[in-house]
Amino acid sequence: MTTHPLPGRDRLLSGITPSGSLTLGNYLGALRRFRDAQDDAFYVVANLHALTTAHDPTPLRERTMSTAALFFASGLDPDRATVFVQSDVPAHVELGYLLECVAYVGELGRMIQFKEKGGQPRTRASLFTYPCLMAADILLYEAVRVPVGGDQSQHVELARDVAIRFNGLYGPTFVVPELAAAPAAARVRDLADPARKMSKSAPDDAAGVIRMLDRPDVIRRKIQRAVTDGDGRMVYDPDAKPGLANLAEILGALTGQAPAEAMSGYGRYGDLKSACADAVVDALDPVRRRHDQLMGDVDELTALLARGAQRAAEVADRTLGRARAAIGLVGARR
Ligand code: AMP
Ligand code: TRP
Repeated sequence: MTTHPLPGRDRLLSGITPSGSLTLGNYLGALRRFRDAQDDAFYVVANLHALTTAHDPTPLRERTMSTAALFFASGLDPDRATVFVQSDVPAHVELGYLLECVAYVGELGRMIQFKEKGGQPRTRASLFTYPCLMAADILLYEAVRVPVGGDQSQHVELARDVAIRFNGLYGPTFVVPELAAAPAAARVRDLADPARKMSKSAPDDAAGVIRMLDRPDVIRRKIQRAVTDGDGRMVYDPDAKPGLANLAEILGALTGQAPAEAMSGYGRYGDLKSACADAVVDALDPVRRRHDQLMGDVDELTALLARGAQRAAEVADRTLGRARAAIGLVGARR
């Protein structure tokens, strides 16, 4: 079995699908970590993935730009990381197709996301094949590390399987990504229903979902109304007291403390909520301001993304050329 590793390389790629307005969960679980790992890193706004379920073109355009602006506003530096929009680099679609020719319907049909959201007669065909597109996102850049949330690890595993199979069938072509260890990162839960994760696909008016672009008063109100419990004891117990634990985890994530430690200075739930709200506002307010600035200067944002796409395409086209040749395509294009 050929895995074609490139020694000494630790390239990183991750992406976010612009299918909703990003949340505090995206910030703590993804964007803030992207900021802390920028060298030899590729971050993609995966807008092609947003076409796999019913969507409206106008909000998709806006969200794609706004998500890109949030990447930069959260601290991604265009001189260090390559930040780009997936559809700006055509190699993704082309390699995605080649990988569909290597993946099996059996393995795609086992994907949990497909089983949950798809499997109906009118499910878009792209929802079924989308793990191949995601595999292309990863393999084009020879990414070794692919930090994702737990719900995406099955897709990374598929990328790995498909890369190994392609290399075995057609010769060493792809770097095989590592399966990241399950992230220790806390999962930010919905403030109104702590049994659920805080999700960008929740309805716009979801009371328990803090959006990265919420104004401070909205953030404060949502946190003050967060569901807790009636027993009044300030104890960190995620199973018995998930709402309170969630607030302590958010506060701890923002102050660099363990949750139990973060909550220990507060006697009453209301005080913990106020401290949590202050910390969230302090973190997100500057990000929102930088986002708004970038969105107000579309030319600058477009130029940043054009630069990212160009750099991404240089790497992606090389890999695609290798894959085309290996699988048996001929033609003038290389
Ligand atoms: P999603 O919004 O589910 O498409 O996820 C995009 C990225 O944000 C992934 O890396 C997730 O792990 C991260 N993420 C999304 N929601 C949360 C959450 N509630 N808590 C922590 N991380 C999250
Ligand atoms: N599919 C991922 C999600 O819905 C986003 C994504 C697209 C991604 N391409 C990627 C993540 C490549 C990691 C690597 O969250």
